Amino acid sequence: MLVSGTGSILQALIDACADPGFGARIVAVGADRDGTGGVARAEAAGIPTFVQRLGDAPDRFMWDRKLTVDCHMFEPDLIVAAGFLKLVGAAFLGRFGGRMINTHPALLPAFPGLHSVRDALAYGVKVTGCSVILVDAGVDSGPILAQAAVPVLDGDDEATLHERIKVAERELVVDTVGRMVRYGWSVQGRRVRIGASG
Ligand code: GRF
Repeated sequence: MLVSGTGSILQALIDACADPGFGARIVAVGADRDGTGGVARAEAAGIPTFVQRLGDAPDRFMWDRKLTVDCHMFEPDLIVAAGFLKLVGAAFLGRFGGRMINTHPALLPAFPGLHSVRDALAYGVKVTGCSVILVDAGVDSGPILAQAAVPVLDGDDEATLHERIKVAERELVVDTVGRMVRYGWSVQGRRVRIGASG
């Protein structure tokens, strides 16, 4: 699992994994910066952690390779990015492409990028939400695994809307990861099916 922030989605997954029937185990949590709430939550749960800071690598290419090696050491079946604020590169996708997912706080393909909640609010949409996608080389452009809709309320600011989205996002990520690990998934073009009946 890769995080950059407070790690509330990570916490939801840690809690879900406590049930053996969920079918997943978090083998490690990595961050791209020091002092994240996500790494603190992992440590509290006894999960191995690592930090790979871009500033410690000579360039982005080497950072990507170092991150790939860190993750590879734990032999994950699935990489889950939740609030991880860096784009991974060719080395990482060469190793984990097709089995790395990301969660995004908007209904893609609307509002990709780092300011999706602000952008949705500024645009004036009445419904937004969250998307869990397979990561490809683009920005929030991979095939969509699951989405949930969330209403935008008249009095919302970025913080209240993001918090409402994150409530839905935690549930969506837990549900999606659980179904992926229990039933598998297949990809045809942009269309992803989880389990035999999709
Ligand atoms: C989520 O909304 C995620 O989509 C976004 O950052 C938030 C992460 O929240 N990119 P948390 O760190 O899991 O609390």
